[in-house]
Amino acid sequence: MLESYQRAAFVDGVRLASNENPLGTSPKALAAVRRIADLSRYVDDSYVDIRERLAERHGVLRENVVLGHGSNEIVKLVVQTFVRAGEEAVMAVPSFALFRLAVLEHGGSPIEVPLREGVSDLDAMLAALTPRTRLVLLCDPNNPTGTAVQRADFHAFVERLPPEIVLVVDQAYREYAATDCADATDEVRRRPKTVVLRTMSKIYGLAALRFGYAFADEETVATLERVRLPFNVAATALAGAAAALDDDAFLRRSIACNEAGKSLIYPALAALGLNAYPTQANFYALAVPIAATRAYEDLLGEGIVVRNGDSLRMPGRLRITIGAENENRALLAALSRLLPRWRA
Ligand SMILES: Cc1ncc(COP(=O)(O)O)c(C=O)c1O
Repeated sequence: MLESYQRAAFVDGVRLASNENPLGTSPKALAAVRRIADLSRYVDDSYVDIRERLAERHGVLRENVVLGHGSNEIVKLVVQTFVRAGEEAVMAVPSFALFRLAVLEHGGSPIEVPLREGVSDLDAMLAALTPRTRLVLLCDPNNPTGTAVQRADFHAFVERLPPEIVLVVDQAYREYAATDCADATDEVRRRPKTVVLRTMSKIYGLAALRFGYAFADEETVATLERVRLPFNVAATALAGAAAALDDDAFLRRSIACNEAGKSLIYPALAALGLNAYPTQANFYALAVPIAATRAYEDLLGEGIVVRNGDSLRMPGRLRITIGAENENRALLAALSRLLPRWRA
């Protein structure tokens, strides 16, 4: 039977499970969605206007942009397009669960390379390549650890990657990362067969709208365009995404909120004697002194929903979203109540 995607528990409480934006949605994007008065016509499926805007923003051409119903759809699109039964796709473990699932769905073999100290091990990933490797899937910053690779290390990795291999870099959380972390979009201009995935679900606060995008060389985009479903991005998503791109103030506030969250959380965790990998995203992987499943259930009992590392192949850790200040404080208070019991 096919493995399936493990969704976060959909229960009431302080929701720190799905790496959503605690500030909500850009008011400009919401207003644009509300202004839609007619949905009777199909959208222009070439999506030229928004592709042009995304291209301009990222220093590529419109022909380098492909859109998806969330970036999840583009992960599946790339795997469906490039991986045949019996072929291999190299990825880190733990990493974004959909990579493995998409490869298995198409009869491919996921070749999973353990992280080194919580970070994608680029040398080991290169060492795992075989003549059957079609794809390398790198999540950076990595979900569920929040860690990222350095810009220089990433460029050195790309230099050594054989040109026939398709490299997918999922940068769903890149906007939160420090400038010395890799920005894979730079590579799109240099290396054909490099596909960089971005999303509006996270920092733009549009998870429920479903708008993802990817950058790649023209030929790769043209190939993906032949496989992509027509009208895969809805009129509502187009309107919201375009308006969100106009709202740099919201983007800046979202980054500031995340930075403030990190400044509150990391010293507080250290004071509690707890450790999390340094994060470059809007979540962190917290090491707990008991089984992750029990820690997860105890936090649920305190009204706080996080992700259980046992279901993310990250035993001994929880994945916790950086929330609004009151949410972060509620989490820290719950941890300090639970810790004596966990350590008993
Ligand atoms: C690494 C990564 N890629 C992609 C996605 C999915 O994004 P989207 O909502 O654009 O499909 C997520 C969502 O959690 C993610 O963590």
